[in-house]
Amino acid sequence: VNNPKAVMVIFGATGDLANRKLFPSIYRLYRNKKISDNFAVIGVARRPLTNEDFRNNVKKSIEDFDDPHIDKDEFASHFHYNPFDIQDLTHYQGLEKRITELDEKHQTDGNRLFYFSMAPNFFGTLADNLKSQGLTQTEGWTRLVIEKPFGHDYESAKKLNDQIRSAFTEDQIYRIDHYLGKEMVQNIEVMRFANALFEPLWNNKYISNIQITSSEVLGVEERGRYYDGAGALKDMVQNHMLQMLALIAMEPPIKLTPEEIRSEKVKVLRALRVFEENEVDEYVVRGQYDKGIIDGEEVNSYREGTGVDEDSNTETYVAAKLMIDNFRWSGVPFYIRTGKRMKQKSTEIVVEFKDLPINLYYGNEEDKKPNLLVIHIQPYEGITLHMNAKKGDANATSTPVALTYDNSTDKMNTPEAYETLIYDCMRGDSTNFTHWNEVALSWKFVDVIANVWNNKKAEFPNYESGSNGPKAADELLLNDGYSWWDVS
Ligand code: BG6
Repeated sequence: VNNPKAVMVIFGATGDLANRKLFPSIYRLYRNKKISDNFAVIGVARRPLTNEDFRNNVKKSIEDFDDPHIDKDEFASHFHYNPFDIQDLTHYQGLEKRITELDEKHQTDGNRLFYFSMAPNFFGTLADNLKSQGLTQTEGWTRLVIEKPFGHDYESAKKLNDQIRSAFTEDQIYRIDHYLGKEMVQNIEVMRFANALFEPLWNNKYISNIQITSSEVLGVEERGRYYDGAGALKDMVQNHMLQMLALIAMEPPIKLTPEEIRSEKVKVLRALRVFEENEVDEYVVRGQYDKGIIDGEEVNSYREGTGVDEDSNTETYVAAKLMIDNFRWSGVPFYIRTGKRMKQKSTEIVVEFKDLPINLYYGNEEDKKPNLLVIHIQPYEGITLHMNAKKGDANATSTPVALTYDNSTDKMNTPEAYETLIYDCMRGDSTNFTHWNEVALSWKFVDVIANVWNNKKAEFPNYESGSNGPKAADELLLNDGYSWWDVS
């Protein structure tokens, strides 16, 4: 469907996400002519703003764009503000009226996209009320986009899911994991399933281990209050890290439909070994940042941050060894790590291949260089294949060489994750959103670890800001005879 039409209702429209990601993404869709005049956005939040205030916020959020052919006022005129109290049922009637008016004005065929981008404790009530007040009944389609966190453990996620499911069907629900909107995350599948080269090797016969790293330089900044109750395991592992794992490990889908792809991902998560409580220490490492030096400046420790308990037991770093117990992957460790306040901002996946039975070309064990396939997800986007080739000298030795595909040359035109995902939702393509079954299995995996950690105080802080994380994360791999590849 080209130029999908809809009235978009954003709950939490004064929030950080709306301003930082959603408005600019809608702008890019508009600029790139993916959406045309048949759209309107209703910003909903508690605060009493006028349309004009709201439009000014929108314009501010796109001030870095400089497209001569786009009239920003014209763009902003599609945005309307509607102050709102989630508990007050009369407000829903007002909102209904507003949606209907804009639907007529912009001829959006009765299509409604509700976007929940506010404190998750209101998600359930809001869904209930939207239904009971008739806002989900329309001539066109109704869809719900819902931001994380989707619960804080399996039980709460299930409760939330039941609540939203009483107002929306599973195929109307689009659970956001913004990593799935990233160009290079989407490239994992294409690379795997559009090349004859990798598939025969993509298994425990030829791959020794896989490493997925997502490191950040920023600390928790202003989000201490949320983060201290969450931690890296729930903030990053339950969603983004396990989603990348599923894409790397899944079987080829029989078709590229959302159902087929998601069902293969679900199978990976079902095969993911859930640890026993007494195994957690052996397979999972947690860390919390101490003070340190970043860009030449001294920075505070996590515990000194605003909104953070001064004796906090919350982890800002997780490394783990995951096992997928199926035919393809049995015996292959998947090492994951993610942390804040690390040396660099970088997300990448390294696939390390097994050594040849005999290598004729290196003299010393330590010169041995395995083949690596590196998928650079961000900030650098590309793929590198590390191989060995002849050195330009008389000796019959081999030297590592790198074949590189660079995807970042056209960065300006590469769609942003949120831009891709909003567009997908408007077109009704749920491939890159998480199905409830994936969410449920991810929580079940994470819950065991979270339980053990909650009940046992860690010796925090245990890594310096600006470092590569705690020592124990290196030992996790050393014990298996591997080490983290620092390839960027
Ligand atoms: C979010 C987490 O989901 O992902 C943040 O809540 C984290 O804590 C962010 O910083 C990382 O996203 P990205 O796209 O910058 O890698």
